[in-house]
Amino acid sequence: MSKVIVHADKATAAKAVAATIRDLITAKAKASQAAVLGLATGSTPLPLYAELVRLHREEGLSFRNVVSFNLDEYEGLSGDHPQSYRYFMEQNLFRFIDIRRENTHVPAGISADAARTCADYEAAIVSAGGIDLQVLGIGRTGHIGFNEPPSALSSRTRRVHLDEVTRRDNSVFFGELSLVPHGALTMGVATIMDCRQVELLAFGTGKAEIIRKTLQTQPSADCPASWLQNHARCTFHLDPEANALL
Ligand code: PGA
Repeated sequence: MSKVIVHADKATAAKAVAATIRDLITAKAKASQAAVLGLATGSTPLPLYAELVRLHREEGLSFRNVVSFNLDEYEGLSGDHPQSYRYFMEQNLFRFIDIRRENTHVPAGISADAARTCADYEAAIVSAGGIDLQVLGIGRTGHIGFNEPPSALSSRTRRVHLDEVTRRDNSVFFGELSLVPHGALTMGVATIMDCRQVELLAFGTGKAEIIRKTLQTQPSADCPASWLQNHARCTFHLDPEANALL
């Protein structure tokens, strides 16, 4: 059963999730182990990344023992494309902290063999020992990562077709709709369900209806985030606006 926490605002939510991540990294470092984080892109995690940067700069939190796996990448964009998720992570988090670049993973948006790239991504997660904590946003379609409806509970990292709602929502970053790729590579629902802990963030009135659907309808492929109802350790961090219809 998922837990829901309604925070005063998104800054408070971001601080709470950042503190959870700090505690995980610290506990793992004490045990001389790597902390394996699953990371997300979009507007939602930006205050979280700002808080992680602050913890690094002002409180000495080190990311030297962190391994990261991002959820997804646009198909056809290289890592130095300003709209790629590799670039997003570099600009909003990696360049401000001491994470080793070789420990950061984002699916390759350009590859000769996408199926191979996806299988290798799954294998890399397994060989890192699995993901300890996955950060998630949620799309208005109910997607987590780029698992658009319908996405089966058993789905793994794969090539997907983006929903037109998602392409329109993300076109603000590209300047115009025609520039938004039609495809992406994304961790699957099963990949996300395998993460030992999931922290989902959703802010604003635009997310209220999909949060209601996610938590109050029977889990199904039609709303991929709804599968999280069956995750053993998943917390939804909402602001009052995203919580409005619960
Ligand atoms: P957003 O996207 O954070 O930009 O709202 C969330 C998502 O699509 O997962």
